[in-house]
Amino acid sequence: MEITSTLSPDDEYILGRTSAEYQRLRQQAMLWEFATQRVLSRLGLREGMSCADIGSGPGETMRLMGELVGASGYVLGVDMDNIIGQESLIMLKTANPARYEFLHANLLELDELTQGPFDLVLARLTLYHMKNPADLLRKMSRWVKPGGYVVVQDYYNDGAAPSAPFPEFQHYKDVFYGVCRAAGLDPNIGVRLPDLFIEAGLGFPDDTDVAGRLVSFAQAKLMLKAVYTSVLQPALQLKLTTPERAQAYADELDRVEQTGQVTAGLWPLMISAWKKM
Ligand SMILES: C[S@@+](CC[C@H](N)C(=O)[O-])C[C@H]1O[C@@H](n2cnc3c(N)ncnc32)[C@H](O)[C@@H]1O
Repeated sequence: MEITSTLSPDDEYILGRTSAEYQRLRQQAMLWEFATQRVLSRLGLREGMSCADIGSGPGETMRLMGELVGASGYVLGVDMDNIIGQESLIMLKTANPARYEFLHANLLELDELTQGPFDLVLARLTLYHMKNPADLLRKMSRWVKPGGYVVVQDYYNDGAAPSAPFPEFQHYKDVFYGVCRAAGLDPNIGVRLPDLFIEAGLGFPDDTDVAGRLVSFAQAKLMLKAVYTSVLQPALQLKLTTPERAQAYADELDRVEQTGQVTAGLWPLMISAWKKM
């Protein structure tokens, strides 16, 4: 059920809202399922608890939460993208009986979450879309019950690497980092999570977790192409690439895969940090 909308018309989301980007988000979510599951299990999320997924996207983290809290629990997803949010509800309600709701809202404008307070409030890959991530973290801490947890999972993109030299990887980084920085976003926010917890007034996190995936080049290539495509419009406007350069990049990725010169790719590291309130 959609509860309400506080969405502002100016959507600055750098990755775009195409069906290809939705597909990429779902694939990315599958990749990190184990990392989110292990943090949720470590924090003791269980039957009957309530939780919120902040920037819920395709709802895959909501699904993991729902599996742990069961039908007597409650899972709220919050996102400014109503299309993916409504799609996620359809998927979730057929997948299992936990109580799921979706709130269509712009987190920059959202102050109170009347559905809370929650046993756990988590934001995965959401803080890095915020120009002032500590502001969101501060709000998240207010949405948690005393004794509940604030959890953040975000990328350290400098942790990504091909298993063998591959010059086009630098072009990928120039384009992706260029778009992020022009939007005032930090692609290495993951390593700064303790600083952000302190800035938000939460103090140093109780603990952290670092997860990585070393995948086949074929799989890494799909993501290198998909992220590049998702940021292509702003990258063209910023003159970080051209349509011809973008095509040459895609062709080179295919060539590298065919020759087998790079076997594997290390994904950006997924860093988790949490604090008991
Ligand atoms: C990279 S996706 C991550 C989705 C999901 N947390 C996951 O890990 O699969 C980031 C999500 O944050 C949402 N988002 C970004 N800025 C937002 C804002 N200001 N208000 C609400 N949602 C926002 C986007 O719409 C997108 O669904």
